[in-house]
Amino acid sequence: GTGASPSDKRVLLLKPRGFCAGVVRAIDIVNIALETFGAPIYVRREIVHNRHVVNELAEKGAIFVHEIDDVPDGHRVIYSAHGVSPAVRERSKGRNLKVIDATCPLVTKVHIEAVKFAKQGYSLVLIGHRDHDEIEGTLGEAPQVTQVVSSAAEVDSLQVPDPNRVAYLTQTTLSLDEARDIIHALKEKFPNIVGPHSQDICYATENRQVAVRNVAHNADLVLVVGSTNSSNSNRLVEVSRNLGTKGYLIDDSRAIDPAWLEGVNNVAVTAGASAPEVLVEDVVNYLRQNGYASVEEVEVMPENVRFGLPPEIVQAIGGAG
Ligand code: F3S
Repeated sequence: GTGASPSDKRVLLLKPRGFCAGVVRAIDIVNIALETFGAPIYVRREIVHNRHVVNELAEKGAIFVHEIDDVPDGHRVIYSAHGVSPAVRERSKGRNLKVIDATCPLVTKVHIEAVKFAKQGYSLVLIGHRDHDEIEGTLGEAPQVTQVVSSAAEVDSLQVPDPNRVAYLTQTTLSLDEARDIIHALKEKFPNIVGPHSQDICYATENRQVAVRNVAHNADLVLVVGSTNSSNSNRLVEVSRNLGTKGYLIDDSRAIDPAWLEGVNNVAVTAGASAPEVLVEDVVNYLRQNGYASVEEVEVMPENVRFGLPPEIVQAIGGAG
């Protein structure tokens, strides 16, 4: 006959998926701060771009604010994993805030590169999404010499004082394919352009995209667990769609439209770097209950990265020795 018999239906659970080291660290920082100093603890912007994570921390007493001006004088504020511009640091100082910095070390790496290139007199091209918190922060390191581009088409209209003195940097959570195209366009326009020592797209972004790229052709549908404002999660959906496999971004199992599963035998499930594993389990359980009896984990590559806590937290928990 045609179509799938129930026993054919399976879930391919991609690995690596979900939390990256920067997200684990950022969430740990908020939890430790709440336990050590007590609520309220202010957090500038979403600590990581996941609705469930933010709601859970808010319930424990974290207060999420948009800007430093929204934090009462003298209080404690945590900077999100996406980083902040020097202007934000100045503002906190002016307000006498106690700062805990949860910026991912791999975002800080890009900030350091921006400062270095700007000091050396380069014009900077920052490849990324203008409205993303990370780009706002990185751009703020050298705003007078930095231009943001989001597509290869935008490269055409770039103007710089000296085409032989141009450097590029990227957001950490871009599409590998798109970044490659934009860098290619930049090299055509500015043959002497220089870039970062090693790519700015982080290991977690890369590994999750490579996993989707490897498995999408074996799947009829790719479900990516993540929130709509999560950059790296959106890229995972794009990778799948670019390979011709239907892909959807879902916050949790409630976002699954049963119509997506019609005629679908193999569902690949992954999660963006800010999406908790409990939500992946929730999605897998939903699929199990809907006839996807076998769940097969597909490990595309090992991943074993961890970051230490920032000094202000290490001190607070008395772990300096
Ligand atoms: Fe850092 Fe990459 Fe995660 S930049 S926060 S390790 S997605």
